[in-house]
Amino acid sequence: MDIQRPRGTRDFLFDEMRLRKHVESTLRRIFEAYGYQEIKTPLFEDLALFTMKSGDGIMGQIYHFQDKGGRDLALRPELTAPVARLYINELQKKSKPIKMYYYGSCFRYERPQKGRWRQFWQLGCELIGGKSPESEAEIIAMAAHCLEELGLEDFEIHIGNLGIIRGILDETGVSKEQQDKIMAIVDKGELEELKSILKEFKIDSNTNNILIRLVDMNGHREIIKKVYELINHNKSASKALIELEELLEILEAFGFSKYTVNMGIARGLDYYSGAVFEIYVHSLGAQKQISGGGTYNLIELFGGEQVESTGFAFGFDRLVECVKKCGIQKPQNKTLDVFVAPISKDMKLNAFKIAQALRKYNIKTDVDLVGRKLKKILSQADSLGARYVILVGERDFEEGKITLKDMKSHEQELVDILEIITFFKGKIPIGCPNEKVVLETSNSLKDIKKNLR
Ligand code: HAM
Repeated sequence: MDIQRPRGTRDFLFDEMRLRKHVESTLRRIFEAYGYQEIKTPLFEDLALFTMKSGDGIMGQIYHFQDKGGRDLALRPELTAPVARLYINELQKKSKPIKMYYYGSCFRYERPQKGRWRQFWQLGCELIGGKSPESEAEIIAMAAHCLEELGLEDFEIHIGNLGIIRGILDETGVSKEQQDKIMAIVDKGELEELKSILKEFKIDSNTNNILIRLVDMNGHREIIKKVYELINHNKSASKALIELEELLEILEAFGFSKYTVNMGIARGLDYYSGAVFEIYVHSLGAQKQISGGGTYNLIELFGGEQVESTGFAFGFDRLVECVKKCGIQKPQNKTLDVFVAPISKDMKLNAFKIAQALRKYNIKTDVDLVGRKLKKILSQADSLGARYVILVGERDFEEGKITLKDMKSHEQELVDILEIITFFKGKIPIGCPNEKVVLETSNSLKDIKKNLR
């Protein structure tokens, strides 16, 4: 039977995993530097969690199934709704703000293409109980910090505020449902489609003109003034614009000023209510959006108390692609420091003991498990990138010694078994085991030596 991977999924091999781990640990380090703590939620949730307010786009992409008890469940398409649920279940009484971050896979039934997968990973954060626009600015500054730390330069952060368009639509009496439809089209950036839906919903020509001009406006801080001239008759839109300007001021105080103000940002999910932002890397092509986020009101929608919440998520897979293309590639870790090679069958158990003693010191060690000839072991050690090979030969061993072969210089030297760890100090990374392990290791090396006598 020829079993293939499901469509839209991937396998990751060693080099790819090393790069993914590097990106993951860099982002974790930065998130933690801003005071975020990690959480984990289930891979599947009650279907209703995602059907309540995620928007039509996501609804059509949900992996939905019934379990044996007839419950309607869904593989999570994103993590903001699960975190809002977790907050209501576990954290409502905790003092705020609460800063949480997550790393995990999401599932969307998409038409797979480059950068668009059915299983993909998000690394993101949610800040619950903070205040806008301070929280929004800190989050955007943190996202930029992550990208800079990964060595990326050609990213663009576009920032908007949904309150501006929604304020104008509210004034014309457009229902919430119709507004969501309009926002979904704004999100797609389809101007003609927008014109036709505004006509269909019988929006008056003045509002129509304002909206069409508005969604096309983007630039640096100076465009705030132009937007204001267009919308200043509307109180709530003006309030949202003032908030956006404050956000930019704080963001600059956090040290990031390379942003673009973009009135056409609407986000594909329906739960956003205030500031929104998206990050693009144009060299990725069609799937250029590597991150999105903003302020949302999911917690009240799920029945929790009113609490300001802001967050964002990196599309982790797209970010890894960017690092491959243009980030700072960290030198790849050697996979192995030492390979232990018994020269004869009789030395097999001693080789295992030595390998185990080194591993207790967190020295990356492999040992021959298949009884290969020395030549084959050396070529395997070489292909694994081992820095040293320990040759365990009978004659040396009788004298309490092993031969250490340096795989770079190809030089060999005899080393006393009790001195192995000391020999490696300063040459390869050695962990710092606790006292018990130090004692056990030195006893086991002594034992090896004692058995010889
Ligand atoms: P989103 O924009 O739907 O937002 O997804 C976040 C990121 O995930 C996108 O910017 C994109 O890079 C990546 N992504 C989305 N779909 C795919 C896919 N099929 N294949 C590969 N990457 C993909 C959210 O999910 C929100 N929960 C973000 C958020 C957090 N808002 C507030 N807090």
